[in-house]
Amino acid sequence: MCGIVGYIGDKNCVPIIIEGLKRLEYRGYDSAGIGIINGKECKVIKTKGKVSELEKLVYKEKLESNLGIGHTRWATHGEPSTVNAHPHLNKDKTLFLIHNGIIENYLSLKKGLLKEGYEFLSETDTEVLAHLIDHYLKLKHSLFQAVRYALNEVEGTYGIAVIYKGEPDKIIAARKGSPLVLGIGDNENFVASDVNALIAHTKKVVYLEDGEIAEVYKDKFETKTVADETIIKEIHQVDMKIDELSKGGFAHYMLKEIMDQPESIYNSMRGRLVYDEGVPKLGGLQGFEERIINSRRIILAACGTSWHAALVGEYMIEQFAGKAVEVEYASEMRYRNPIIDKDDTVIFISQSGETADTLAAMKEAKKKGALCIGICNVVGSTIARESDAGVYIHAGPEIGVASTKAFTSQIVVLALITLLLARKRNLSLPEGQDIIKHMKKLTEKVDSILKQNDYIKSIAEKYVNSKNFLYLGRGYNFPVALEGALKLKEISYIHAEGYPAAEMKHGPIALIDDNMPVVFIATKDSVYDKVISNIQEVRARKGRILAIVNEGDDQIETMVDHVIKVPKTHNMLTPILTVVPLQLLAYHIAVMKGLNVDQPRNLAKSVTVE
Ligand code: G6P
Repeated sequence: MCGIVGYIGDKNCVPIIIEGLKRLEYRGYDSAGIGIINGKECKVIKTKGKVSELEKLVYKEKLESNLGIGHTRWATHGEPSTVNAHPHLNKDKTLFLIHNGIIENYLSLKKGLLKEGYEFLSETDTEVLAHLIDHYLKLKHSLFQAVRYALNEVEGTYGIAVIYKGEPDKIIAARKGSPLVLGIGDNENFVASDVNALIAHTKKVVYLEDGEIAEVYKDKFETKTVADETIIKEIHQVDMKIDELSKGGFAHYMLKEIMDQPESIYNSMRGRLVYDEGVPKLGGLQGFEERIINSRRIILAACGTSWHAALVGEYMIEQFAGKAVEVEYASEMRYRNPIIDKDDTVIFISQSGETADTLAAMKEAKKKGALCIGICNVVGSTIARESDAGVYIHAGPEIGVASTKAFTSQIVVLALITLLLARKRNLSLPEGQDIIKHMKKLTEKVDSILKQNDYIKSIAEKYVNSKNFLYLGRGYNFPVALEGALKLKEISYIHAEGYPAAEMKHGPIALIDDNMPVVFIATKDSVYDKVISNIQEVRARKGRILAIVNEGDDQIETMVDHVIKVPKTHNMLTPILTVVPLQLLAYHIAVMKGLNVDQPRNLAKSVTVE
């Protein structure tokens, strides 16, 4: 989703901003722009399409300045186009504004501004804010005050950066509901919507909170609330290396992240397994264990892939910790007036920690007094900071829009939470130790699946021209069926549906003929025989079948077109293994179709608007 980069300092901001925008490309966008102000000129260059296009234009113009802002836009109001791209300008082209989020009352603000004689070039909500700030500047307010007054009139969400020719020694940055960080350098400072954009220059960051506004100079910064109270912000040190953001020799981030999984899974449990006691050590939940255990029920809320991880969590916690669990789409939960109170624990799962729906659902649950726990990947993200307690998944930066390693790490952390709760209830020491033993073997097992990459690619070749796919699984493999289908549709644009295998007979079976590939996830568990019956039903109707089975299974092999074998593990950890071949299958099909795997059309990595 939209990205913001701003620079003020002694260096030429242009390459810094372009490089920062490239580091934000993974979030998904459709147009880009840059605005610079120096003594001689105020210049804006915008384009539809990629940052590489913008880069060509910028270098052709030989732009140079010590002050500038850049943006990648993901269209909400108005089509992707050069005119709708940011920065947006005031009338005399001296003020530049970039904005993430949505100004909900932009139409009524626009009406007022039109009456004052302001003219609008774009269809965006953002342009309204540029003119509104201009309106206050004309009333002789400083830039800081003008932005503050304008923001007080705005309903909706924003992360903004503003520069102005009249005060060329600063960037004004403000946030409400859309992430924004300041990067603190040596005689240079940065503004960004994501630390990835500034990590090459500084590891010192200041996270702005909702309703905060900052005046950023090259050698200092001051912060206030939009209501004009002064606030002192803490400077945090980010623990991330720049090479974690590279493709590491792989053709795509997605492939690198799939291949990273032995390491990311290991990192999610590193230092957290206490074998002798058969329990995990989760520092972020310390002091909250009893409240979680005694809560009336546990609700898991998330969106997208994280929601699929939540489904796995439901199966785990109910089976081993014996607690009632509900899984909610955060987007539904936030508006449903859910029955939640102080006796509930709500666990919010979000790779980015910034998903607008998940964040809003968390605010709602907090208001109702529930204990709110975050399971996030991005350290310092809003959900991580605003939850009462939490566990980081430590999967490392995930750049590919289609989530892969975050999913397996989310399941690892859910397994750790399950173990924590289960051991406090009925799970015996040997059973706890058995789970830990299996967890420790996960990395080598995932590694052995990844070694089948070429074989999986050869299977992908056989299915690349299919127009539809059905993914079926039961029990722990039902969420994997959903995730496998989501991966395929996200990056290959092939229509794919995931279903619980037994539900096939209630509808999807009508679709089955010799053109319909069906992917079964059929590991040896308590419903294995039932899944075999489902396989037979598809076979009888000439469907093409690819099955994910356990090593040593030679029964299913005789019934289906293709099999991919995965090692056996503890029942509840199965999804961590069975999802991996499905990630690779989707990846190879998308690559064979010549598609942009890392930045699929219309999708955003971090959906910070509703
Ligand atoms: C977007 C991404 C998905 C992701 C979902 C939830 O739709 O494209 O890959 O699963 O958001 O994101 P979160 O960061 O909250 O896990």
